[in-house]
Amino acid sequence: MPAYSLIAPAKINLYLEIIGDRPDGYHELAMILQSIDLADQLDLRHNGTDQTRVTCDDPQIPTDGQNLAHKAAMLMAAQFPEAARRWGGIDIHIQKRIPMGAGLAGGSADAAATLVGLDLLWKLGLTQGEIRQLAAKLGSDIPFCVSGGTAIATGRGEQLAPLPSADFLHVVLAKYRSLAISTPWAYQAYRAQFSGSYVSDQASLQHRRQRVHSGDIVTAISQRDGAKIGQLLHNDLEKAVLPVHPQIEWLKQALAEFNSLGVMMSGSGSTVFALVESEAAAKRVQQQLKAKLPDPDLGIWTAKLINSGIQLLQS
Ligand code: C5P
Repeated sequence: MPAYSLIAPAKINLYLEIIGDRPDGYHELAMILQSIDLADQLDLRHNGTDQTRVTCDDPQIPTDGQNLAHKAAMLMAAQFPEAARRWGGIDIHIQKRIPMGAGLAGGSADAAATLVGLDLLWKLGLTQGEIRQLAAKLGSDIPFCVSGGTAIATGRGEQLAPLPSADFLHVVLAKYRSLAISTPWAYQAYRAQFSGSYVSDQASLQHRRQRVHSGDIVTAISQRDGAKIGQLLHNDLEKAVLPVHPQIEWLKQALAEFNSLGVMMSGSGSTVFALVESEAAAKRVQQQLKAKLPDPDLGIWTAKLINSGIQLLQS
């Protein structure tokens, strides 16, 4: 029986603008999403039972029905009942490297890898577009995690337009391990304070969605202008999250003291990243931050921006 190992990369938000409320209760967003080579690994195999079983090397990660990889397997079984009956259950083992509650789409990446892996295990022959459509049913970031790279994401985050690769850049990521931020809380906190600025009529919504496509940061990415990309990093959620979690603001300030192109919170936090031009610069900033904030609770990683989403490692 075949087994597949898949690499599930994290993402950062180079740009996150909240435009308005949607009738489905979500927010209308304009984002630029970017894959990085900090990644989980998922091993998927048939288990000869009718159960889906998830295991993880990090005991803090729930492995029951709350786990997004588990939810992805349930969705596939509901969508393809004949394949599920024919092939039976699967074991999914997650080697967790992407921190949780970090704004790095770790759970979403695992769900994306499960969809891709089940397509292979069940020999469904789905296109990437079909997998992305299924992914949108599970979560707003998951379609991006399937294809990855550098992309504009609008709507809930599921409408994707690829951009030229920003894989010439690197990042330093910093996160207090004990500080996990709930994404629903972050969006609620933003709505509570800033819904007065939301756009609601269709013409304005369309205008704002379009504006990101022709925005300066997209031009900077096309021109491979790292300095400009760094200056144009943006995340509306900082306005709601930083006042409640000043540790993230202090972390941003500490990182900003070192030589980088720009510093920003990723997604709903709690990760802060500094964009840099080389792996050597990333390692240097990592050491400088470690020396400045010698706190065992502070996790500091370096990563490269990459041009891929879920990748098959071996079968
Ligand atoms: O889609 P996903 O489950 O990842 O979203 C998590 C939460 O983030 C949603 O329940 C919602 O509270 C918030 N969200 C939002 N608008 C989006 C995406 C997420 O309000 N476009």
